[in-house]
Amino acid sequence: MEFYEVVNKRRTTREFLQKQVDFEVIKRILDAGNKAPTWNHNRNWSFIVLKTDEEKEYAFDYAKKIADKFDAEKYLNMPRPYPITLGQKMYAHAMPRQFAMLKNAPYVIIPVFKSKEVTGGSFSAFNPFSTIWCVIENIFLAATAEGLSCSMRIPLNEEHDIVKEKLKVPATYMIPVFIGIGYADPSELQLEQSYPEMDKQLHFGRWK
Ligand SMILES: Cc1cc2nc3c(=O)[nH]c(=O)nc-3n(C[C@H](O)[C@H](O)[C@H](O)COP(=O)(O)O)c2cc1C
Repeated sequence: MEFYEVVNKRRTTREFLQKQVDFEVIKRILDAGNKAPTWNHNRNWSFIVLKTDEEKEYAFDYAKKIADKFDAEKYLNMPRPYPITLGQKMYAHAMPRQFAMLKNAPYVIIPVFKSKEVTGGSFSAFNPFSTIWCVIENIFLAATAEGLSCSMRIPLNEEHDIVKEKLKVPATYMIPVFIGIGYADPSELQLEQSYPEMDKQLHFGRWK
């Protein structure tokens, strides 16, 4: 697939077909992740691979509770002083799927990166975190190039530490995201997205 076609086709998927994925393809996708830029030249991240229902149910019971608790109808119809936004509509679509979009993906990939905490007084303190997101974006694009699609969940509050402990991730590593990879169900509702207008984004020489 041509590069810009890949970029234009990539989208977050939350419903997958029950169609298996060859693990060799997953390895190619992760290898694309490994080609990402790295802040310290070490590329010292790893990937935890979840395949079975048991593995996914064990890891993601926190996400399941959140998804089960969320009432999309109530959220969509709650009184607001302004019209509902695209982001809120997306949230209402995404929240009930936070567990199913991982459980029903043939593979879940959990990148882990070397860092004890994500805090710091300068941008460079975030370099390990920034680097793993370069890896993650390469994974999204490579999956798209393979005709696959990804779901992504960012661990919420204590969910990070809960999953880290369950999966026996070393104390010096962190989990930025859980990624489901599989064949997108083409019948999933496609919500409208907002895109910036290039003319309004560009500031030549200085802001004004
Ligand atoms: C930093 C970041 C965090 C996100 N967290 C979640 C998440 O926890 N759960 C989820 O379903 N989607 C999550 N998303 C996906 C966004 O909802 C999605 O990227 C956005 O709606 C744009 O849609 P697109 O990816 O299809 O272009 C996240 C995306 C980013 C970049």
